[in-house]
Amino acid sequence: MNLTIHILLLSFLLYTVHGLPAYSPCSAYYNSPPNNNNASSGSTAPTNYNTSKKAVNTDLVTSLPEYDGSLPEMYSGYLGAENLKEIFYTFAPATTSTDKFIVWLQGGPGCAGTLGFFSENGPIILDPNHQTPQDNPNSWTRFANMLWIDQPFGTGYSQGSPLASTVSIATSDFIQTLKSFYAKFPEMKEKELYLVGESYGSVWGAYFAQALRSDPELHTIPFGGLGIISGLLADYETQNTITASMWLDHVNKMDLYYSDDAAEVSSFFAAKNQQCGYTEVLERMQFPVEQSPIPKPQVNLTNSFSKRKRQADSDSSNIQEAFQMITDCDTYTLTDFLLYLKNHCMITYDITLDCSFNSNNDPLTTYLNRKDVQQQLHATRVESALTSSKGIFGNGCNYDVYGEIVKHGAPSILEEVVPELVQNNKVSFLAGALDFQILWTGSLLALQNTTWNGWQGFQETPDLNSPSGFTLNERNLAFTLSNNVGHMAPSKDPAMVIDWLQKTLLD
Ligand SMILES: *[C@@H]1O[C@H](CO)[C@@H](O)[C@H](O)[C@H]1NC(C)=O
Ligand SMILES: *[C@@H]1O[C@H](CO)[C@@H](O)[C@H](O)[C@H]1NC(C)=O
Ligand SMILES: *[C@@H]1O[C@H](CO)[C@@H](O)[C@H](O)[C@H]1NC(C)=O
Ligand SMILES: *[C@@H]1O[C@H](CO)[C@@H](O)[C@H](O)[C@H]1NC(C)=O
Repeated sequence: MNLTIHILLLSFLLYTVHGLPAYSPCSAYYNSPPNNNNASSGSTAPTNYNTSKKAVNTDLVTSLPEYDGSLPEMYSGYLGAENLKEIFYTFAPATTSTDKFIVWLQGGPGCAGTLGFFSENGPIILDPNHQTPQDNPNSWTRFANMLWIDQPFGTGYSQGSPLASTVSIATSDFIQTLKSFYAKFPEMKEKELYLVGESYGSVWGAYFAQALRSDPELHTIPFGGLGIISGLLADYETQNTITASMWLDHVNKMDLYYSDDAAEVSSFFAAKNQQCGYTEVLERMQFPVEQSPIPKPQVNLTNSFSKRKRQADSDSSNIQEAFQMITDCDTYTLTDFLLYLKNHCMITYDITLDCSFNSNNDPLTTYLNRKDVQQQLHATRVESALTSSKGIFGNGCNYDVYGEIVKHGAPSILEEVVPELVQNNKVSFLAGALDFQILWTGSLLALQNTTWNGWQGFQETPDLNSPSGFTLNERNLAFTLSNNVGHMAPSKDPAMVIDWLQKTLLD
């Protein structure tokens, strides 16, 4: 199991602390690598050598500690953002001829793209199965030019102060970062640009796409669309609570949980849904849906937040006890309890992981904190900014960045940003049925409550009985459910994710 626990959306903290989730020139040329002349094949091959050759060659990665393969062409270092901030990047050109250019946006907020590079979709991965960096046969560089960035400022190797504190600051930093990138790699300007974000990366992707499409300089870049994996789309109630019973029913159908207690659980949920006004919402979730906003019931959720931590000290296996603990309408926490009773090692990011998964077995953070690794990656601006004795990646993601961004919040991306974007560009969502962090049922509810391109919601009925999942694709917007994956879909089923990308976004 190569899932790494540090690249996660930290929404538990987000929900418990704040109740609701925030939304969260030089005409430069770059050189072909001096020691690997044909690595960049096809249309990505460098076309010129000159003034910035030196600058860019400085960014070329020529070796990586513990890696003994043949390094793919890759560059890393810093790009200028706003107000003297410098954002760490890694760029790996496609290994085939393609006009696609994807910027990968990690979640958190506060998790580094560098983590995604090494654990989800980069050409070299480092996971608990291997302990040393290996070639990744499912690298996205097989079909696209790829850029990973450690953003917002304060994340990963993009260290310094002050941290980026709002989505809007992060957005202007991103725009400037992308301009610096194009100045260094001008060939990429002609490529079709896609943003693909995971988890809280939904917020980054949507706001960044909106900003670059209206930027006087960047709006001429051909923009292809936005991909969102396990994305945060709505507030806690809509994303995670109202549809918790529907989510659990689906999991039961896959024989993962509660086949023995199913009747009891299901009647408890039915009563709770009725009492809390969720039943009416679930009944409104039709395909096609009645063309008016789905009212959200006003419920009290305060009572169960304090109990979220019960996992550590509860060893009960009595579902009645779980039922009794939830006196309010927080059916998400109730589901959390129930899952825990079945699997004391339950991890919200993938409910099929059991106690054999050891989240401390994480060679990647150790690796990224090594000085020799930082030197090879040109992550030179980290030294003075270290705040933790465990190093930059000691806690996986930067919780200070997380706290700042979440504190300030931003409106849900489905309110305006996505409906505006799909007028001209594709937007595609991928969700995993095994993800209990962000419920796919809540995403689908939020989409059935969203109007885009003249109509509210999807019209086609999803096939909930299909063993692998389903795709709905209407009016430029697609939603795919995969039954095989949890939150970090690219590390669990890379081939499926690539297929989703190709079919719903890149084609
Ligand atoms: C690079 O490509 C050229 C022309 O395609 C070929 O002649 C040469 O042998 C290649 N060099 C390497 C190192 O593969
Ligand atoms: C490359 O740069 C050098 C000096 O920096 C300049 O003399 C030369 O004309 C440039 N060549 C091209 C092709 O731009
Ligand atoms: C549906 O959208 C409206 C705004 O258009 C919002 O007020 C309402 O809370 C949403 N319903 C749900 C269930 O999220
Ligand atoms: C919500 O529930 C808590 C705990 O039961 C209670 O203290 C609080 O007054 C309730 N709030 C509302 C608005 O009903």
